[in-house]
Amino acid sequence: MRKIGIIGAMVEEVQLFEGHMTDTQAITKAGISFMSGQMHESQVVVTKCGVGKVNAAVCTQILIDHFQVEAVLFTGVAGALDPRLDIGDLVISIDCMQHDMDVTALGFERGVIPYQDRSIFEADRELVELAYGIGEKLFESNVYRGRVLSGDQFIADRTKVKELHEELGGTCTEMEGAAVAQVCSMNDTRFVVIRSMSDRADGTAHMNFAEFTQLAANRSFQMVEAIIQEM
Ligand code: ADE
Repeated sequence: MRKIGIIGAMVEEVQLFEGHMTDTQAITKAGISFMSGQMHESQVVVTKCGVGKVNAAVCTQILIDHFQVEAVLFTGVAGALDPRLDIGDLVISIDCMQHDMDVTALGFERGVIPYQDRSIFEADRELVELAYGIGEKLFESNVYRGRVLSGDQFIADRTKVKELHEELGGTCTEMEGAAVAQVCSMNDTRFVVIRSMSDRADGTAHMNFAEFTQLAANRSFQMVEAIIQEM
């Protein structure tokens, strides 16, 4: 049977899955807990990787090597970069990039990983279109496809938002997606990142994040649950 890995960074992003799974079994590896079980007709492994790119990368490699998942879905919240987005809106990753990769001092463009053929990691097209179709049905016009920019920084500054949107083409920003994307790409494993907006990554981001994270995480969960049913 097909096995799908589901990652969230924080407890709010994964706790809903546990109540919807049967035949669960928990194991811990590298200090990260993984819960495998059944959800609808699929076998799933749900995990809270922790915040940041290193946690996300280690977690993704374990899902691939140890659990042998055939696809990885990332669920969670993000800060909006595209001015069209409102809190609660959904972004489905067309691709992902690390906005804090900066070797400009050596002449590389911002975001480019030196001496490597790729710095932008494309999500699986079929999963993107499946997610978008489901999102349109569930949330009407509040669903976007776009670039997810990741960095080990919580963005809370309007100037930085403009820069990340205009210079790097980001639709939203968070702290794990590009790491998951890069590890999946290195292992030829399909992935998609689903993020609901908890804030606008500006001066009010810390307040909005606290207020809207649960609502946004719930929306992302609804999306991922429906994707699993239709995969
Ligand atoms: N996740 C949710 N909001 C974020 C922000 N403003 N910056 C980085 N990660 C986030």
